[in-house]
Amino acid sequence: MTSQDKIIWIIGATSGIGEELCKIYAADGWQVIASGRRAERLAALEETSDAIRALRLDVTDKDEVALAVQKLDADACLPDLTLYCAGVFPIGGFSTLTDEICVNAMDTNYFGAVRTIHNLFPLLKKRGSGQVAIISSLSGYGGLPFAASYGPTKAALINLCESLKPSFDKANLTLSVINPGFVKTDMTKDSKVPMPFIISAESAAKRIKKGLARKGFETTFPLPLAVALKLMRFVPYWAYFKLVGLTTGKQRPS
Ligand SMILES: NC(=O)c1ccc[n+]([C@@H]2O[C@H](COP(=O)([O-])OP(=O)(O)OC[C@H]3O[C@@H](n4cnc5c(N)ncnc54)[C@H](OP(=O)(O)O)[C@@H]3O)[C@@H](O)[C@H]2O)c1
Repeated sequence: MTSQDKIIWIIGATSGIGEELCKIYAADGWQVIASGRRAERLAALEETSDAIRALRLDVTDKDEVALAVQKLDADACLPDLTLYCAGVFPIGGFSTLTDEICVNAMDTNYFGAVRTIHNLFPLLKKRGSGQVAIISSLSGYGGLPFAASYGPTKAALINLCESLKPSFDKANLTLSVINPGFVKTDMTKDSKVPMPFIISAESAAKRIKKGLARKGFETTFPLPLAVALKLMRFVPYWAYFKLVGLTTGKQRPS
């Protein structure tokens, strides 16, 4: 790997959107560092391209995250773009409100991102360049049925990015948040819940890459769902719950 190459670090690269992102960035000439827990999936990814290198990582382990960033720095592989894609989606309502499920969801989806930024930001600031992108979700815009333990983690991520944006700006760095709607991946494959405007992981990855190249703050898609959910933040709650009910039909979470 040469320092001339653009480096992207994809955390949560072993399946779904992250895996597609690995492939399209590698095909576009980037050096890709792929992270996740499943070693066999990382090895398979490395097989697909010489540009992909695995860095095994469990984002719930704060020491592992710190060591991973130290290793990238020591190898002169500090990323130009870091994409935090790691996530879990325990689908459901009240039934998912166990300590085990909710703590793991927050630990993976939110605290993993916090740990990543905490370790990376000072090094990027010192270098004076870099972009960090966090994959949140449209479900972070407002409470949705079937996302009682997931939506709060995504709302927290959006809030985190809004809060940190001025610090990134001041350091001449870019912080981006990505809010996708439904995407066909392992995460959604067993879902019995209606998923309007669902798109493929490949399509999602292409939209994310295009959005990140703009270096704007938010990338969101698909447009009709994103606009509807954004506008729903401004209607009275009685109307909000009626509109949400229309999308779920007769289905109610347990
Ligand atoms: N699919 C959707 O409809 C949708 C919609 C909006 C937002 N999103 C978000 O998009 C991101 C990617 O999701 P996806 O749909 O592509 O799901 P996915 O195929 O299940 O991928 C999830 C990724 O997260 C990684 N991950 C989970 N726990 C981890 C941990 N403790 N440490 C490191 N990596 C971990 C997984 O790798 P390992 O298991 O190998 O660790 C995997 O690579 C998630 O943040 C998700 O919330 C998805």
